[in-house]
Amino acid sequence: MATVGRTQTTDIAVHWKEEEYIHPPAGFVGQANLVDPVADERFSEKHFPECFREYADMLSWDRYWHTTLDTSTPPFWKWFSGGTLNACYNCVDRHLDRHKNKAAFIFVPESETEPTYTLTYQELFTRVNEVAAVLRDFCGLHAGDRVTIHMPMILELPITMLACARLGIIHSVVFGGFSGEAAGLRAADSESRVMIYADGYYRNGKLVEHKASADLAVECAGHEGQKIEKVLVWRRHPGQELLTTPMVQGRDYYMDELLKGYKRAKVAPVSMDAEAPLFLMYTSGTTGKPKGCQHRTGGYLAYVTGTSKYYQDIHPEDVYWCMADIGWITGHSYIVYGPLALGATSIIYEGVPNYPDAGRPWRIAERFDVNIFHTSPTAIRMLRKAGPNEPVKYDYHFKHMTTVGEPIEPETWRWYYDVVGKREAVIVDTWWQTETGGFLCTTKPALDPMKAGSTGPAALGIYPVIYDEAGKELPPGLERAGNICIRNPWPGIMQTIWKDNDRFVRQYYQKYCKDPKSTDWRDWPYFAADGAVLPPDGYYRILGRVDDVINVAGHRLGTKEIESACLTVPHVAEAAVVPVVDEIKGRMPVIYVALKPGVSDGRQVTDQIVTTVETMIGKIARPKAVHVVPDLPKTRSGKIMRRILAAISNTMDTGDVTTLANPEIVEQIRQQVQGEGPVVMQEGPEDVKRFGEQE
Ligand code: WT7
Repeated sequence: MATVGRTQTTDIAVHWKEEEYIHPPAGFVGQANLVDPVADERFSEKHFPECFREYADMLSWDRYWHTTLDTSTPPFWKWFSGGTLNACYNCVDRHLDRHKNKAAFIFVPESETEPTYTLTYQELFTRVNEVAAVLRDFCGLHAGDRVTIHMPMILELPITMLACARLGIIHSVVFGGFSGEAAGLRAADSESRVMIYADGYYRNGKLVEHKASADLAVECAGHEGQKIEKVLVWRRHPGQELLTTPMVQGRDYYMDELLKGYKRAKVAPVSMDAEAPLFLMYTSGTTGKPKGCQHRTGGYLAYVTGTSKYYQDIHPEDVYWCMADIGWITGHSYIVYGPLALGATSIIYEGVPNYPDAGRPWRIAERFDVNIFHTSPTAIRMLRKAGPNEPVKYDYHFKHMTTVGEPIEPETWRWYYDVVGKREAVIVDTWWQTETGGFLCTTKPALDPMKAGSTGPAALGIYPVIYDEAGKELPPGLERAGNICIRNPWPGIMQTIWKDNDRFVRQYYQKYCKDPKSTDWRDWPYFAADGAVLPPDGYYRILGRVDDVINVAGHRLGTKEIESACLTVPHVAEAAVVPVVDEIKGRMPVIYVALKPGVSDGRQVTDQIVTTVETMIGKIARPKAVHVVPDLPKTRSGKIMRRILAAISNTMDTGDVTTLANPEIVEQIRQQVQGEGPVVMQEGPEDVKRFGEQE
């Protein structure tokens, strides 16, 4: 049914039938933030772009803006022009008057014997100031400089991000599970001269020594021509030596030691232009090189604050737990910036969800009386598999739950609703992307009924459209998949790809731009690279990526990045990476390689490939299988037919192959793969993830 051009993922998308509506529980509706039935009207096209004042007015501005949306240089939209503000001030300082003793974060270490730690807004303020002083006075960093942060889920991660934001330093957080090389490449691309690490963290009951990654990162950045002058290292246990990797004299510094010199330092928040970049978040694209999505201060903060309030339904008295990792966009928008701007109390959990057993998340929920819970389909599937009745054993009550990152099949959705939510919680299935800053499609939790397996209608002020390959609009009810686009700009959209405006335009706007000379936003639909169908009720169903990106456990891996890694293995002549359906993670990569002539030991090469992929990208990219085949199927012009390989791996019809240069190879590969069974990679216990998304 997927008719979208060269899609891979949508071709193997599961199509479930339309489900019945379920209405939000009355208990939820009675207390919700967004209950006004005319909200849709307020955010309708007639009121665009001024409707977004409603979000911007949730912030404290140093200078109010004069132009809500400036469209003079499409598609480089400017939001809230003329305004100035500081993101850290909005997330921390402004809560001190009324909430200084309120918990901003409750840190839950992975070990159940280590005490939890409650960080109040006052202490957050104190610590952020001291770190800001280190960045400014010890590192000599200023507004506009970039810093790469490669850290696990500990309190010092948001503290460090906020310290950057206080000074207008652009942070680039790299997910802790990525390899040192991956972090180094990103540090080089962003031209960071300071990197920030943690010495270690706990995962699956084991201490992971993370600082070793810093050494690789610095080396790798060096190869790319970027000198990392300083590496600041947070200690998981301040004052204690965890490391077997030595600190490099004159380059590496323990934060706890540096901070002794900055006790009670105060650093005034720097008033930033609304359009000043707040952070970079690297994500995989269609080419080998990850792209640095650059997010602005004013528009981004306004959008994540507004959507946190309306769709996450965060009130200051709630206890909110988003089980994502801060190293991904979900964590930036819906653990750090949105919730803190609202003065929320959030749980930060260090470890994997099912450590030491599948009851862990529900014990955490019970202990802290969590009432808003946010996670991914992968994590839900995994928790269901490991402990289908665990939630019942614990006395917690969610009013609200979120699912994000990948399509959720109705069966999994129902377990989430019935068992995890005990039929008391409303669910929002939020569709969005690293590029979009915040939610694009979701139900309004108190106003719209839920429909399992569908994300829902567009978020307020977002006007989607589905186009076919030729740019023809597919109306609702057609039952045909097309490319979902957003017709209008919104404050959360990224500004550009770091240092690459051309790629930004090419990637997101070129395909459906109606007139490159136009300064009318209506001529510049945003191409999301997802396939979607739209039934008559307007509830979008997202089918998955239409580009060379694989969504593994709710997170993005570029097939080209994995292929490039494979090609660095000496004996590999050619490599192709395709997605295969996985019961827990949704999709996983499968690697096909052809070896150079004369190489016979396929097994050894297979092991090398797996290790190389893990070192160059991270365990997140570990393939489900590696197939060493005699040749890859190719067109007469030499193009590798990944689609055919995907069909074989997913036991689907390969279609007509007679026009290939080497049609006979298809049957040979099929017999090898389906006959002998795949070479399944061993998965260690560390593979069981938080938020699903991790390595
Ligand atoms: C891709 C973006 C932003 C959240 C974390 C992922 C897929 C995301 C949903 C959903 C179906 C979804 C899309 C999208 N996706 N949310 N609710 N239903 N698919 O961010 O790593 O930038 O990945 O995740 O394919 O393009 P990301």
